[in-house]
Amino acid sequence: MRAMATVKPAAAAHAAANPLALKFCGLNFTSPIVLLSGCVGFGEEYTRIEGFSNRDAGAIVLKGTTGKPRLGNPPHRVYETPAGMLNAIGLQNPGVEHVVASILPQLDFDETRFIANVCGSTVEEYVEVTRRFDDSPIDAIEINISCPNVKEGGVAFGNYPDMSAQVVAACRRVTKKPLITKLSPNQTDIRENARRCIEAGSDALSVINTIMGMAIDVRTRRPVIGNVQGGLSGPAIKPIALLKVHQVYEVARPHGVPIIGQGGITSASDAIEFIIAGATAIGVGTALFYEPLICKSINDGIAEYLRAEGFSEVTQLVGTLRTTNETQDCAISG
Ligand SMILES: Cc1cc2nc3c(=O)[nH]c(=O)nc-3n(C[C@H](O)[C@H](O)[C@H](O)COP(=O)(O)O)c2cc1C
Repeated sequence: MRAMATVKPAAAAHAAANPLALKFCGLNFTSPIVLLSGCVGFGEEYTRIEGFSNRDAGAIVLKGTTGKPRLGNPPHRVYETPAGMLNAIGLQNPGVEHVVASILPQLDFDETRFIANVCGSTVEEYVEVTRRFDDSPIDAIEINISCPNVKEGGVAFGNYPDMSAQVVAACRRVTKKPLITKLSPNQTDIRENARRCIEAGSDALSVINTIMGMAIDVRTRRPVIGNVQGGLSGPAIKPIALLKVHQVYEVARPHGVPIIGQGGITSASDAIEFIIAGATAIGVGTALFYEPLICKSINDGIAEYLRAEGFSEVTQLVGTLRTTNETQDCAISG
């Protein structure tokens, strides 16, 4: 990606003709960048880093929040892998009441849009947390359906379209705020799941959450991650995430349902690929751990690309992939 010389993202964000500005479920984003859940705490941690500004992101998704406080999983909770990381934090969070009563009042809603990330072990818990956020200044609600369903023996809600749709429909009934469903890649047909979530009332889709994996310490012959398995994120999952965005876009486009594309984005070029595949906004998570100021270079690089390619707005680029074929399910790699 060529160096960007003239557009300053902070200034561009405030300019009337900001090419990076877009509407997402009726919300004004000054950039397509969304900082992802679990990678920015509760929205103010990174503001302590010199040079970091929440204004460089169109939106920030808060850490996954449950009904009651959770301490999370035993260590190790994170482990670096080639081109990525495994995590099994176990949804450590102070509970929805604390988040709404004590954390949200500290956030500056002039800086960016803030999105809650709702988690639960039962449909009732998802509903309880969504209802509490509905009665708060939060801009939108993302439902993390990758949580294990305790009533079904721990199987993740997001792995089965019926269960996913049940959670979305139940949350839809208790909020009029924009509802975003975060789809799991750990399932057979993400398109079917996307279709069912849209029918159940989801206004937008996040694609994708982490992919389950593990690592073993050969000396001890024990799993490295305390929880045995963990979610793989970072550049290692980017090609998979990109295909999932492309597949979900085929389903979401006719309904006008926007996508937050995510999984391994570490550069403007990565972000542009996701937008071409059909993402209206793009998520940055793991990259923040080693490059906290990455938003600036991604904003600059997208703006430079738009100018070079003759686009006046980033929205014109969404879903412009040139292909004549529908994506086939059969393996064609070998
Ligand atoms: C340490 C860590 C914690 C995460 N916690 C959450 C969470 O609480 N809720 C959620 O929906 N996703 C969570 N995620 C998933 C990210 O939001 C994101 O979807 C995923 O990491 C893929 O993007 P990336 O490759 O840019 O990190 C977490 C990811 C990491 C690395």
